[in-house]
Parts: sequence; structure tokens; C-alpha cells
Amino acid sequence: MSTPAKAALEEARSRHLAGELDLAEQGYRAILADEPEHGEALHLLGLVRQQLGDHDGAVELLTRAVAARPAVSIYRCNLAVALRSRGEMGRSEACLRQAIELDPELAQAHYHLGGSRLVGGDLAAAEQAFRQAVALSPELKEAHYNLGISLQRQGRAEEALAAYRDALAIDPRYAKALLNLANQLHRLERWDEALAAYQRLADVKPDSAEAAHMTAALSGVTTSGCPAAYVRALFDDCAAGYDARLVGELGYEAPQRLRELICSAAADTPSFARAVDLGCGTGLMGKQLRPICDQLIGVDLSPAMIEQARKTGRYDTLEVADLVSHLVAATEPYDLIVAADVLSYWGDLTDCFEAVARCCAPGSWFAFTIEASADDDVVLTRSGRYRHHRRAIDKLAARTGFTLVAERTGSFRREGEEAVAGQLFLHEWGR
Ligand SMILES: C[S@@+](CC[C@H](N)C(=O)[O-])C[C@H]1O[C@@H](n2cnc3c(N)ncnc32)[C@H](O)[C@@H]1O
Repeated sequence: MSTPAKAALEEARSRHLAGELDLAEQGYRAILADEPEHGEALHLLGLVRQQLGDHDGAVELLTRAVAARPAVSIYRCNLAVALRSRGEMGRSEACLRQAIELDPELAQAHYHLGGSRLVGGDLAAAEQAFRQAVALSPELKEAHYNLGISLQRQGRAEEALAAYRDALAIDPRYAKALLNLANQLHRLERWDEALAAYQRLADVKPDSAEAAHMTAALSGVTTSGCPAAYVRALFDDCAAGYDARLVGELGYEAPQRLRELICSAAADTPSFARAVDLGCGTGLMGKQLRPICDQLIGVDLSPAMIEQARKTGRYDTLEVADLVSHLVAATEPYDLIVAADVLSYWGDLTDCFEAVARCCAPGSWFAFTIEASADDDVVLTRSGRYRHHRRAIDKLAARTGFTLVAERTGSFRREGEEAVAGQLFLHEWGR
């Protein structure tokens, strides 16, 4: 390579490092105009295209870089990343193996191999690859963080905490590691440590919905409701394992109990022309409602929960939306509106009841559950969920036009080992 070409490459590379992607691209393209198969220029231009979200362009350029210099392991590693962005998991993994064969000490390749195993659900193999990556490059904070995830998913809580702490020792402002550390401490009911971690996260990322909400919950401050971004992140994260955890581990049975309540209040077998399942989640309530509804609509804030609900085939329509927005936009009334274990993500229920009332015709039913507060009208608990007192529910229901038809008191889920006091209500509108 000539001296001017070397200087041009260095100049483009320094633009690239400074984040000036357009100028970097111009520089790499100028080199390729003279020498179309210049390996390093192809490689670096491929990285620019990848950073710009042009995965097809990145794959094409990185494939050419590998062809130009087949012995360079990092080219194969970066090609693997671009292939993964296109969803080509098999080819990506093959590329990573070739990169490791060429250079067994390439930490990045072990790290990305761990990533593809994590996505594929092979947690033990992911752990092994991340361990290899941190052994080769102890400063690779992302490898510690992902090692933490692979351990957490294997139920190895203490080791996961240690891995998140290792990532934070490298970068104390690493927000993703702080969030996982805080959530894991919260799950272990180490309240003070969890609070400290959420507070650190709030410091690093002032717009973090999780940090704001959980700091309030662990400090005994009752806010008006969970931020939508918090709810979405919480349920997107747990959607895949939701049914197993709620039904299998936490003894969740609100859907069955709500259906019993509805059936007990109906003269004959109930039948509804148009029903909506608010906060439908994965569709557990839909399973109970489907046999008694002609048209069933599901609404949820979490796209991943809606995806699970879609797979069940229980709903005629599914929508990713905030439930109040959905109700406010509805053009036809519902004759049954259901919210199973959803209102516990709301503090002040005024907007919710007003929006439900807006979608009722005389005789419409509203069936829902609450977690019961012993004293206060509403209280945000350390779990991050709200409890409501029935006197507050009675008052709000009366003010928005509802009359109580039936109710039941009793727990419908546990929290850890403890049964959570709950209440189920069935109200009729416009009587
Ligand atoms: C505990 S899950 C219950 C899911 C389902 N109803 C069941 O019985 O399995 C709570 C659900 O409510 C949803 N949710 C919470 N707040 C919401 C809101 N404002 N609008 C729409 N969905 C909401 C969450 O995304 C989550 O899927």
C-alpha cells in the first residue's frame, strides 16, 4: 500500500472513530475506487454500513473483505455480527467458529458466539463462551454483563450478581448492568441493596422509567401509576416464561375465578356479543372468555405479551396499546370489559374507570381484580404494584355509573411464598 493510501485510510479511520460516519464512508470509498478489493477499506466500510443499519450492505462488503484477506479473523467475526443482524444464525455461527479456528484468542468471537447461544436458549454453552471471552479480555464489560444474563436465566442468582458487579467495576455508569443488578436484588428481596442500585441507575440515566418507579416503590412513595415504559419493559422481558411462572410458580388463578364470578351472576350460560380483555397479556383470561364471547378483543401495552396471545388464536383482534387510549378511541360499546390482574399497575384509577364507562352501554359488565389494601385507599408496595381499598373502588364505581353485581374476596396469586390478598368485582353500568 502506498504512503498516500495509508494516510487516506488513517484519515478515514479517525473520522470513523469520531463518529463522523458520512466522512468516513467517503474516505473508504475513495480508497476502494483505486483498489476495489482493498481488504481493510472493505472491512471498515462494512462496519460503517452496519452502524447505519444497512445489514445487507454490511454483509456484502464484509464478505468481500473476508475473500480479500481470508486469514484475518476479525473480518469473519464482524461478518458474523452482520449476518446475525439479518437473522442468518447458522451462517453467523459458522463464521464465528472459523474466526476462532484462525485465532483461538479472539475474545470478540467468543463473546458473539455466547450471544448466539443465548438467543438460541443454550444457556450452559452461552455461559462457557462468555467465560472464555472474559478470560481472554477481562475489560470486555459486555461479556461480563451477558455472562450475568446467562447465569440469571439458569437460576444462579448470586453468580449473576457477581457478573453484573464485575461489569460495573469496569464501567460504573453501565446502565444495562445496573438495571439487571437492581432487578435481581429486588427479586431476591434484598430491598435496601435494590433501592441503592435503582438510585444509582437514576443517577446515570435520569429518564429511566424502571429506576423512577422502583425507587418510589422501595422508598414508600405512592405515585399515580406505573410509567408505560416500565410496564412494557417488564412484560416484554418476561413474556416467554410468563405462563409457567404465574400459573406454575405463583399459583395465579384470577382468570378462572373471574369467569366463575361472571357465570354465577348470569341467569343462564352467559354469552357476550363483544368483549374486550384489557391488559390481556399472554391470553390466560382469553382462554376463559373465548367460549362465552362472540367477538373477543385483546389489548396490551407489551408487544411481546401480545405476540404470545396471538399464538393462542383465542382473540379475534389484538392491539398493542394503552388500555385507556384503546377505550377512548373505541367507536362501539362493549357488553363485557375485563381486567384480570391489570389494575394493580395503576395507582389513581379515575382515568381507567371513566374510559371504561365511556365504552359501556346500559347493562354492560365490567369484571376486574384488585390487590387489596388494608388501610390506605391506594398504596404502591415494594413489589412495584399498587393495592387499592374497596371503599375507594366503591366510590369511583358509583361516581362513574357502575353498580356492584357480584364480588369475591380471596387470594388469586402469591408473591414469593405469601398469598396476596385480592378481590374480584363484577359491576354493571347504567342500571
Ligand atoms: C399481570 S399481567 C396480567 C395479564 C392477563 N390479564 C392475565 O390474566 O394473565 C398484567 C398485564 O397488563 C398489561 N398492562 C399493564 N398496564 C397496562 C395499560 N395501561 N394498558 C394496557 N396494558 C397494560 C401488562 O403489559 C401485562 O401484560
